Amino acid sequence: MIALSLAEIASAVDGRLVAADPAVQVTGSVEFDSRKVTPGGLFVAFDGEKVDGHDFADSAVQAGAVAVLGSREVSGVPMIIVADPLAAMARLARAVVDRLPELTVIGLTGSSGKTTTKDLIAQLTARLGETVAPPGSFNNELGHPYTALQAGPSTRYLVLEKGARGIGHVRYLCEVAPPRISVVLNVGVSHIGEFGSQENIALAKGELVEALPAEGLAVLNADDPLVDAMAERTAARVVRYGEAAHAEVRAAEVTLDERGRAAYTLVTPEGSASVRLGLTGRHQVWNTLAAAAVARELGMPLAEIAVGLGALGLVSTRRMDVFERPDGVTVIDDSYNANPASMAVALRALAGVGAGRRTLAVLGYMAELGEYEEQGHTEVGRLAAELGVDRLLVVGDTAAPIHRGATSVGDWGGESVLLTDQAAAVEVLRSELRPGDVVLVKGSRYRTWEVADALRAEADPATGGGAA
Ligand SMILES: Nc1ncnc2c1ncn2[C@@H]1O[C@H](COP(=O)(O)OP(=O)(O)OP(=O)(O)O)[C@@H](O)[C@H]1O
Ligand SMILES: [Mg+2]
Repeated sequence: MIALSLAEIASAVDGRLVAADPAVQVTGSVEFDSRKVTPGGLFVAFDGEKVDGHDFADSAVQAGAVAVLGSREVSGVPMIIVADPLAAMARLARAVVDRLPELTVIGLTGSSGKTTTKDLIAQLTARLGETVAPPGSFNNELGHPYTALQAGPSTRYLVLEKGARGIGHVRYLCEVAPPRISVVLNVGVSHIGEFGSQENIALAKGELVEALPAEGLAVLNADDPLVDAMAERTAARVVRYGEAAHAEVRAAEVTLDERGRAAYTLVTPEGSASVRLGLTGRHQVWNTLAAAAVARELGMPLAEIAVGLGALGLVSTRRMDVFERPDGVTVIDDSYNANPASMAVALRALAGVGAGRRTLAVLGYMAELGEYEEQGHTEVGRLAAELGVDRLLVVGDTAAPIHRGATSVGDWGGESVLLTDQAAAVEVLRSELRPGDVVLVKGSRYRTWEVADALRAEADPATGGGAA
């Protein structure tokens, strides 16, 4: 964070100083986990359901915190008292962002691919200047200000993922860190249970471009009609990316290699360049186009964009992480999360990587689909069969419609089995995997990870397992 006095912080968050010297400066980071506090920092105490951060105020001070931002006094601790520490953290983040005129805030949202594309954009902007981007999916009312608070005087780019579970969420996050560039990736059906309809999801995601100033830029996916139409909801300039003819930043002549990695011609108003990606999955064409559109806006020459895109790597885990086991099995660990759209891109990647090889997919439940749940799972199963996946392991009763969808495809030559849990899936894999197989692991978080971890552990003698 930039150095701010306790008086400045109290004024930014409308807080009351208690036992604190207003002139003392916070020079370190803002932390809500007392174990992360370093000298000169500020500790934020949340009164949570399980833990009350105020109980750790003393240890935070011992670790070097110059004050604690909390909702009640703790004797002997310099405090900034506010009614709501989370809201105060957001206001403080805004105060920091407002004090950094050279900072460009890049926000992105969409139903799938936010974290992936955030990581891609951040890798490109890092070639231009100091970049702050959160690790993983830190995209909510806590992760957002926490990340923004890491920006300092030398930070040039702040790349933030803006997640939405309801109308108004993105708008709120845009008040914390107002974007100058807003990227909207797609409107799918994730969280449709909470939103009610796809139109409502589009309404919520579009708040990201409504928040732009006139001199800002909206980067919109030309291939997604609901995103394309968001051009009408912004005062800012619009640049479209995609494969559609009207996209200014466009991919043409897309090809995939045997590892499912795309190459394409990047076509822009300034000219064309060849791009060869090291990332697996055709969907990375869309994500890298979005990143290219941002880099172009920031003045990166086309040739450098092409080189930058070719050098992109994976940053956040469990997203299209392809690894080879010593026993000749290829694993696609895409187990971080799942919704129907991301299942589709992952299954297509499996089909691509697995061309000419035996393919297996371990698929789990997709959460938060509401009334679309049955249909969403069924369609995924059907797609797996249509793509010719050889062996489908469907995990858990809640995911059973995937199994039914697959087996409803009459001319499918593959086989599906419905398993009770992840351990059962690991057992089946252990007995069935053969050298040359390609396995995809995907589902909505947590337990699906166990399957990917087991496949990894068995591949790595150092962690105790032998090759299956
Ligand atoms: N542009 C895309 N379109 C559809 N699916 C995608 C796209 N990019 C990535 N995916 C798929 O979505 C999965 C999740 O990606 P990622 O974690 O980047 O999404 P996210 O939007 O950040 O998700 P969350 O809402 O959980 O934070 C990937 O593992 C991949 O299977
Ligand atoms: Mg994410």
